[in-house]
Amino acid sequence: MTRRRAEPFKIKVVEPIAVTTGDYRSQAIREAGYNTFLLNSRDVYIDLLTDSGTSAMSDDQWAGMMLGDEAYAGSRNFFALEEAVREIYGYPHVVPTHQGRGAEHLISQILIRPGDYIPGNMYFTTTRAHQERAGGTFVDVVIDEAHDPRSRHPFKGDVDLAKVRELIDRVGADRIPYLSLAVTVNMAGGQPVSLANMKAVHQLCRRHGIRVMCDATRCAENAFFIKEREPGQAGRSCREILKEMLSYTDGCTMSGKKDCLVNIGGFLATREADVFQKAAQMVVIFEGMPSYGGMSGRDMEAMARGIYEMVDDDYLSWRIGQVRYLGEQLLQAGVPIIEPVGGHAVFLDARAFLSHIEQAHYPAQALAAALYLDSGVRTMERGNVSAGRRPDGSEYFPKLEMVRLTIPRRVYTDRHMDVVADSVIDLYRQRDRIQGLRMVYEPPTLRFFTARFEPRGGMLANP
Ligand code: F0G
Repeated sequence: MTRRRAEPFKIKVVEPIAVTTGDYRSQAIREAGYNTFLLNSRDVYIDLLTDSGTSAMSDDQWAGMMLGDEAYAGSRNFFALEEAVREIYGYPHVVPTHQGRGAEHLISQILIRPGDYIPGNMYFTTTRAHQERAGGTFVDVVIDEAHDPRSRHPFKGDVDLAKVRELIDRVGADRIPYLSLAVTVNMAGGQPVSLANMKAVHQLCRRHGIRVMCDATRCAENAFFIKEREPGQAGRSCREILKEMLSYTDGCTMSGKKDCLVNIGGFLATREADVFQKAAQMVVIFEGMPSYGGMSGRDMEAMARGIYEMVDDDYLSWRIGQVRYLGEQLLQAGVPIIEPVGGHAVFLDARAFLSHIEQAHYPAQALAAALYLDSGVRTMERGNVSAGRRPDGSEYFPKLEMVRLTIPRRVYTDRHMDVVADSVIDLYRQRDRIQGLRMVYEPPTLRFFTARFEPRGGMLANP
């Protein structure tokens, strides 16, 4: 018999959550314009909107909050953060920012000139938005398998080196300030990048004088997949693997709200003294002094402590295991999901789930709304709505049309995962009753946050 394993922590504080009726939820989702981003959290039972800023902190992190040194300059918590970044990530220079996109803003403005190209292993919404604001064009260089929900490639986040070479030949290396390397790849389903691929990307870019900037948002989770899947890595700690991964990069942007187990914060880190200097100049204008960059002292302390906790092998194995636990229940019931299950979320393949709804009618958005209606579980659309429009106004119609069931870290029990699985499986059985949506309000950028919809044909799934 396989012995079951439980959480490597116990619960010290609890937060009650709302159990609502179907009628209540029907009104709530209508008032939210069928956009789960616009729901009030008090109306949500299990909140799988995001793993960003939703982690439970440890008692040690909370204790650190009491040691906040709120000095305007030179806070001792900044030095704790700097030391954690040097030790765990291996970058000498760090500039705190209020969250990941603050760091994306800085690096995009510092390195990108109008007309430049930025290759990346699949786009991320805020990352690409900042690249475009700086006058750059994002070019997808992820392997083709990443766009195929059924491919079980163990490292679906890998960069396709041939696509990078093709870009270099087409536009010239001097038009490519850096390659943006995300580990894991959020929009591909939380899929990891292999160590071998990171090394090869590093070597190729170095030959052409192109930097590798890592989006390290979920890098510890990526390290776990390497330990589990890459030949020869099983005997190493995630901490060791992470250090090697990042040694193949020149710097990183980081959203501390994910792997670092805090509710707010991020940073830009670099090996280059001149990039650091420019970032330190710019951060003063947009975020705050280089020794706090939009964070309070206590938040920097919590993040510094979270950085050590995030590389704990037992924690990571439990964390990835919980996501997989949910994914496997869905697979067993025949629900189409992105395979293999990724690091931070289970992604429903909304195209296959709702094959009767065309992509122009936003099947993933409709499925997310239906799931909330069914059980009060809040999820996120990651498909045509998230992809937005090209500069010429046309929609991207991405190959992946998904609903993300994102698991906050250390927050929910496996029993919560059972409730989620039951709801998704039930909906799958009655999928014919779910109808597409029409967008009735569309903001000009990052539309998924605030767009509003109406069902095209009356009701969504009626529980
Ligand atoms: N990069 C990746 C891969 C992300 O997933 C995110 C945020 C960011 C950068 C930006 O960081 O939110 O701290 O400014 N992802 C969240 C999500 C919003 O729900 O996936 P941020």
